[in-house]
Amino acid sequence: MSASTVLPPVRLRQLAQSFGTPLWVYDAALIRARIQALRAFDTIRFAQKACSNTHILRLMREQGVKVDAVSRGEILRALAAGYTAGGDGDEIVFTADLLDRETLATVVQQRVPVNAGSIDMLHQLGAASQGHPVWLRINPGFGHGHSNKTNTGGEHSKHGIWHSDLPAALAVIAQQGLKLVGLHMHIGSGVDYGHLSQVCGAMVELVRQAKAAGHDLQAISAGGGLSIPYRSGEPVIDTAHYFGLWDAARKEAETIVGHALGLEIEPGRYLVAEAGQLISEVRACKDAGRNHFVLVDAGFSELMRPAMYGSYHAMSLLPQDGSDASARPSRASVVAGPLCESGDVFTQGDGGVVLPRELPEARVGDLLLIHDTGAYGASMSSNYNSRPLAAEVLVDGEQQRLIRRRQTVEELLALEA
Ligand code: LLP
Repeated sequence: MSASTVLPPVRLRQLAQSFGTPLWVYDAALIRARIQALRAFDTIRFAQKACSNTHILRLMREQGVKVDAVSRGEILRALAAGYTAGGDGDEIVFTADLLDRETLATVVQQRVPVNAGSIDMLHQLGAASQGHPVWLRINPGFGHGHSNKTNTGGEHSKHGIWHSDLPAALAVIAQQGLKLVGLHMHIGSGVDYGHLSQVCGAMVELVRQAKAAGHDLQAISAGGGLSIPYRSGEPVIDTAHYFGLWDAARKEAETIVGHALGLEIEPGRYLVAEAGQLISEVRACKDAGRNHFVLVDAGFSELMRPAMYGSYHAMSLLPQDGSDASARPSRASVVAGPLCESGDVFTQGDGGVVLPRELPEARVGDLLLIHDTGAYGASMSSNYNSRPLAAEVLVDGEQQRLIRRRQTVEELLALEA
């Protein structure tokens, strides 16, 4: 957790009072700072699956950040946030491994460039839209992620076109009259940078193959995957070094194709994770044998990551009486939510083992903050146990804005009327 993620306690208490809990809070200044750190890339394309609120997308667009969409819903979100499509525009790119019928109709109608992860997509797109701009997402045969579930390369991954199928994909592009824009690689989320030179090398090799097969390119994409320090002491990514490696690969690729190439990066987590916090309220405390449970009003219906991947999120306590939590004795606590499910625990390891964490002793009525939840937090929420989606607030300096109101149970029931 970076210290800059923490808004002053008095502000957080006031937000919880105004908007209720559980509550997502995002800090616009921190998002802008993270964008700034990646400015060396020609194109920063936000992987909106990390945080797809249209107000966050507007902020991205104001900063000149383009957007990636992975569903028809995400394309419509981008359009609602002011991004444009059509013509030769590439503000929105659609990345997927398949095209369902409705999404195919939308990408054709809006002429959204498609980053194809399967050859079938190329056949379907070519049949529907002459000259449609396409990227090829290639699985280089290896990958890495913070968990197996976020590794998107190698033969266990469903993502991308297998590297040895590149010539076949290029042949379909030619045969279908599609327009190749670039090559893309995203080997996983939360990657280990030891893999980076291998990824860059694989990209250069693919460019060489595309050129040899008689195809021209305008750009290459490094994908996303940049990690953030969820635990104190974890390394902060050196974005200049990261850019340097990719820039060197780009230059090598440029000598192969004989002209300039654009260099894109496609982060989700890096841009928004640290800017988001989930505020919950402690509603019950109890002991079970050796374990002390602190039960809060947010669950995996809000933040799925600990239950899904055993992910660690830093937490801090804001005592109800306004005092400083550091004055409280420390207590090994299992922090859990309200869902009727044993896995609804925020302090757990992979495989669901509860991991008590030393925290200042919590009391009913205190607020508990879960940090670094701006990415894959609200966007992975669900209505499990018929819990309405929580509200979202965007803080920008002295200003704050409710950017999504709390859903109501009546709205859930209305779908079934
Ligand atoms: N590009 C593509 C094609 C992707 O599939 C993804 C993430 C990204 C970019 C952005 O990756 P990032 O920069 O955020 O690492 N729910 C998981 C992460 C799943 C990521 C899926 N794809 C989590 O909470 O860690």
